[in-house]
Amino acid sequence: MDPKELPSILREDKISEETKKLISSLLSHTDSQGQKLCQYQGCWYYYNTLQGVLNFQRGFKPQDTDIILASYPKSGTTWLKALTVALLERSKNHSSLSDDEHPLLYDNPHGIVPCLEMDLYHESSSPNLSKFSAHRRLFSTHMPLQAMHETLKHSPCKIVYVCRNVKDTLVSWWFFLCSILKIEQSRGVLESLHESFCKGIIYYGPFWEHLLSYWRASLEDPEHVLFMRYEEMKAEPRDQIKRLADFLGCPFTKQEEDSGVVDEVLDLCSLRNLSSLEVNKTGSRNDVDHKFYFRKGEVGDSKNYLTPEMENKIDMIIKEKLQGSGLIF
Ligand code: A3P
Repeated sequence: MDPKELPSILREDKISEETKKLISSLLSHTDSQGQKLCQYQGCWYYYNTLQGVLNFQRGFKPQDTDIILASYPKSGTTWLKALTVALLERSKNHSSLSDDEHPLLYDNPHGIVPCLEMDLYHESSSPNLSKFSAHRRLFSTHMPLQAMHETLKHSPCKIVYVCRNVKDTLVSWWFFLCSILKIEQSRGVLESLHESFCKGIIYYGPFWEHLLSYWRASLEDPEHVLFMRYEEMKAEPRDQIKRLADFLGCPFTKQEEDSGVVDEVLDLCSLRNLSSLEVNKTGSRNDVDHKFYFRKGEVGDSKNYLTPEMENKIDMIIKEKLQGSGLIF
């Protein structure tokens, strides 16, 4: 693929001279698709993303009421964004869930909740954030927590992390990557991604470091860091959305529960509903079609693609890396 046609996350056209110099001093790796990664503060980034991370670290000024939705890519970010938007919107008098003006009807969740390093700070360390509500700003990130530590260390802002079983995440990433690169979903690509996941040399990886950074913070500071699991959200959506609402400080009232608002939020944000909206069927952002964010959304789908050997290898690595953390898959 012509580098100019690559989606912006995979390009190298936003990096400054200073960042080029930094990159030359970092560990680097070219993945099986020919994309260059480098390791910064323990995490692997494509070059444009690294620039966004550096700009964020230089320029982001947290506000006390900020909410940051964090995840490893392909772990349920789109769903978490939609749910959070729907929860917060319901408190606005002018916008009920059945309102024709509901933001989820007009934009993809990634357009409503922009990513700090990829959408906001990708070009500058002082982007214009004036379009965000002064009293509550909603952002997302795929950075591991250590990348935000210095910037957020005195801030009481809230962080919600969604994690997903690594095997389903890997298969989801395989489908997504092939879609955005417009290449065939071949076994060869899956096998090389599997190897990269296992080695930890993968975009935003190692996966286990990512998980653990948020997991530990959620245990140490549960008032500010909420750890959610995709599988639990699928198995017990009502309990999990109530947990999220409580954490965000916008719990469901008894009246809302009695009148079915919990189910209304869940229906609005369901994969079936979101993927059927015109904006998600036809729109695109940063050279990525919105429709690529919606596939099956099933727990355990990886069984259909990974061999037992591939599964075993991941299971063993995850078990070893998470040992003693209390986090179990
Ligand atoms: P699959 O590829 O397994 O289907 P992310 O949002 O982090 O990019 O993750 C994408 C995964 O979440 C995809 O998984 C996608 O189908 C699933 N997904 C997207 N929207 C969802 C929703 N509203 N409910 C449940 N899963 C959703």
